[in-house]
Amino acid sequence: MNVLIISPGYPADMPEFTRGLSESGAHVIGIGDQGTHALPDLVRHHLSAYIQVPTLWKTDVVIAELRKQLQGKNLDRIECLWEPGIMLAAELRAHFGVPGQSIEQAHCFRDKEAMKIALEAAGIRTPKHIAVNTVAACWDAAHEIGFPVILKPIAGAGSSDTYRVESADELRSVLPLLRHVNTVSVEEFIDGEEFTFDTITVGGEIRYHNVAWYRPRPLVARSNEWISPQVIALKDVEQADLADGVKMGQDVIKALGFDTGFTHMEWYRKADGEVVFGEIGARPPGAHQVDQMKYACDFDVFRAWGQGIVQGKMDIEFERRYNVAMIFKRARGVGRITRIEGMEELHKRFGEHVVWETLLRPGTPRRDWRKTLVSDGFVMLRHPDLQLTMEMADAVGSELHLFAE
Ligand SMILES: Nc1ncnc2c1ncn2[C@@H]1O[C@H](COP(=O)(O)OP(=O)(O)OP(=O)(O)O)[C@@H](O)[C@H]1O
Ligand SMILES: [Mg+2]
Repeated sequence: MNVLIISPGYPADMPEFTRGLSESGAHVIGIGDQGTHALPDLVRHHLSAYIQVPTLWKTDVVIAELRKQLQGKNLDRIECLWEPGIMLAAELRAHFGVPGQSIEQAHCFRDKEAMKIALEAAGIRTPKHIAVNTVAACWDAAHEIGFPVILKPIAGAGSSDTYRVESADELRSVLPLLRHVNTVSVEEFIDGEEFTFDTITVGGEIRYHNVAWYRPRPLVARSNEWISPQVIALKDVEQADLADGVKMGQDVIKALGFDTGFTHMEWYRKADGEVVFGEIGARPPGAHQVDQMKYACDFDVFRAWGQGIVQGKMDIEFERRYNVAMIFKRARGVGRITRIEGMEELHKRFGEHVVWETLLRPGTPRRDWRKTLVSDGFVMLRHPDLQLTMEMADAVGSELHLFAE
């Protein structure tokens, strides 16, 4: 079986997914804009061929290059696990007659307006929303929905250009910031906790799912530099107060007719218990959340996905053993990291529960916390008990400090 994977070398966990395909028995052909020499070793090892294109974002260029290089070789699957390439993958499938997600289906995962309309038709609770492309329409929408509202691009990612707007005054000051966005979604602001529902789905059946809890909500985490944002992959996904969210996730997969692959949904739970749909991607979550799944169940999640794609089944066993918390740190100050405080102390207290740590070392330039989810590195730790997991995560948040100058 020949599987084409788009951008096998980027972002960070694509090499592992490439491995997952090849270890499941596929000939994996990569296509990307990176030079061969820039590909991580793991990718090179698991690719049968690599096609370098000048850009991935001109579909006709990609098609022409593929035609030339494939020399009549058939493709059985075309996969992309990276948000910007979801439509490209669907367009290539349509062009080369390869099974998998169609352009119409992909559109519902990429365009947040189409997504919500499809889900509402299936009876799923979404935030009230109005898509607008003029300033006047934005005012009308805000008044119709009522403050506070959320303003965001209909095809955004990484909370870019997303604003919570409390009042007419705030709307006046936010509108100029959105001038470059073609279509803005004005949404009812949903107050509550925020979770994910992530799946590996095979032939329309959910074979594995994960629920992660964001502490605090991403928009808050990404608006306040002092916060050390946490994501906790939960061990007990059967617990009663997640049941409505999990049920919603299952309904969403059905409603959108998702067939095979990874999905990443976000949902809200209000104080009164009502659950509300947030968004869904036809791809895994980023920022090492897939690695959290791996550590939660000690299983090869990348290969499980690959098996689903290549063999149309997933029989890799897994057992939910741990809650896995990832805590992202942001240094104080600008420039280069000068020191890390509190690490030894925390290591003594619970070092045995830490599975991964990527904090930037002294001498390294700080990253721009607004542009990267991983900030200046993270600590990943795990424990079967949620309360203890949260206590350790909070200690990393408040007792571990990076400084830069
Ligand atoms: N209607 C809403 N009510 C409350 N909060 C919202 C709403 N829409 C978005 N948010 C907040 O903004 C964040 C980003 O929005 P959303 O997830 O839709 O966009 P995104 O840019 O695709 O995000 P990402 O790629 O980071 O997941 C959400 O995680 C949530 O915290
Ligand atoms: Mg989101």
